[in-house]
Formats: sequence, C-alpha cells, structure tokens
Amino acid sequence: MDTSANNFSDLNDEGLKREIARLKREKNALIMAHYYQRDEIQEIADFIGDSLALARQAALTDADVIVMCGVHFMGETAKILCPDKVVIVPDINAGCSLADSCPPDEFEKFVSQHPDHTVVSYVNTSAAVKANTDIVVTSGNARKVIDSLPADEKIIFGPDHNLGEYINSVTGRNMLLWNGACHVHDRFSVEKIIALKKEHPEAKILVHPECRRPLQLIADKVGSTAALLEYAASDPAQEFIVVTESGILFEMQRKCPGKTFIPAPADDIECACNQCEYMKLNTLRKVYEALRDGKPEINVDPEIAARAVKSINRMLELS
Ligand code: 13P
Ligand code: SF4
Repeated sequence: MDTSANNFSDLNDEGLKREIARLKREKNALIMAHYYQRDEIQEIADFIGDSLALARQAALTDADVIVMCGVHFMGETAKILCPDKVVIVPDINAGCSLADSCPPDEFEKFVSQHPDHTVVSYVNTSAAVKANTDIVVTSGNARKVIDSLPADEKIIFGPDHNLGEYINSVTGRNMLLWNGACHVHDRFSVEKIIALKKEHPEAKILVHPECRRPLQLIADKVGSTAALLEYAASDPAQEFIVVTESGILFEMQRKCPGKTFIPAPADDIECACNQCEYMKLNTLRKVYEALRDGKPEINVDPEIAARAVKSINRMLELS
C-alpha cells in the first residue's frame, strides 16, 4: 500500500504502533532498543539489550534496515558491523556525554604519547576513537576482556574513568585512565543512596559501573544493565535500589512483576532527574517517521570504519 499520500500526523500511540508494525514487515526492518529507551519504545522493539547484546545482535541480523533506538554511537557500531544495511537512529541528535568527553584528536594525541600501551576503549565512543583503539569493550565484558590480556600488558582505558577504576579494582591492573564520564551516572550521590537504604534496609543496591567509586563500594551488585537485570531476577531480595538510568525499571518490572524497584534520585540541580535526555529524544512518532522515510541514516567514513571494525570484532571474539 502506498502511504505517502496519507496524513498520519494525528495518529495516537496505538495508531503509531500499528503503522510501525506494518512498515517493519514491508521494509524487512528490525527495531532494536537499549534498556534506557522510553517504555513505549521498549514495548514495540524486536530486540532489547545492553550495549553488548545490541552489537552482537546487529552483527547477526538478516534484516535490511536496523532502527537503532538508542544513541548515536550505538547506531555507528551497528553500521560498522553491517555496512550494507541501512541503519537509522530515530533522532540523530541522540548523542552521549561520555562519548563527547573523549574528542578523537585529543585521544589520538594521548595514545601517541604512550606507544607501548594497548588501547582499550569503552563502546560509548565515536567511530573515530574506535579507529584508534585495539579492543572495544562494554560494561558487560570489560572485565573478561582485560583478564584475557597478559598480566604485564600496559593498557590505556578510556573514556569512562569510573568504569576504568572499577575494572582496575576487580582485575588488580593499573590501567592508565582517560578522565571521561557520563553526566547521568557521575551525578548519583552516595549520601542519597545511603539515606534511601536507611528507609529500605532490606533493599539490595544495584549500581552501574559508570557511577563513582564510593557508589561501587556500597553496591550489592555492580554491573552492566543486563547484569543488573539478571541479578534482580535471580536474587531472592524483593526490593532493590537501582542506581542507573531509570529507563531500566521498565524491563526490571516486566521481568520481576512482584518485586519493588526504587530509582536512585539524581543529585544535581541542573539535572532534575535520573534520565538520560539523549536516550529520551527517541519517541514512538520518530520511530514511525524514521521507518517511513528511511532516515536519519547513520553513515561512517569507510576508512574509519575499516579500522574501527577490527577493534569491535576483537571484542566480539574475546567475549
Ligand atoms: P550498558 O547497557 O552496556 O550497561 O551501557 C550503559 C550505557 O550507559 C549505555 O549508554
Ligand atoms: Fe551516554 Fe550516559 Fe546517556 Fe548512556 S546514560 S547514553 S553513557 S549520556
């Protein structure tokens, strides 16, 4: 059916969901979503995951179009792994403060000052940074990847300083850390979490490793979004204080309907909530329009992609 002449501007959420399902079949598209996406996007996604699972699934899919409901670096990673597919991020302005904290030219200079170091970069980076990296990691596999390297290997780790400190502590390494951070995770306050714990003494504390070290130290579990979900589902506790972006509560509640999840409050007056405004830029309507129009498309310079794919593939081989 040719829909170009129709006016769908007045579609409500149910209408948008119907149109998205129809366009998805018509275009052989796969909708992927990160756990921090809006609830209604997680509801319609074909695949929901952490950064590692999204990269793995992108490498496996036989869809012609990938709608990556996440942020720009996730779209870039999918495009680098699937150069022949159309990769769309519904809102092209969905960036990442952590990726922005690592400008490619400054990182290149830093790397060149330490030529005897292996360069390990978190997936939350631009394609240009990945092109200057030996191995990419996510929070889901960073420990495993670092453990696989010889004990005396000198390592640069960037850009997330908090994750780097966590990996140093659990592996006994002394990696040289880039000083980057995520503006959402870096602002959670240990005092507020301790106060919450006093109100809910039975609650287990779940912390993403992008949070600062004092929070990692009071956590019952430190892990990627997927690892925190798994812990919440398998641990007998009935109450959890969740110290990461609050979008994850949707999947936690779906996986564990009887349990209580308490979102951690943010601690900064400029950041009124514990949500990532970049992640929340994608909406149901933008997903519909992106599928309908085949844009905004993610493209990566082929020379950069050819270098970046090596560091991403090395991660996929090692984890
Ligand atoms: P993970 O889902 O891999 O834990 O990543 C968290 C994140 O900040 C994504 O932007
Ligand atoms: Fe980037 Fe932080 Fe948002 Fe994740 S939550 S996309 S690390 S700004």
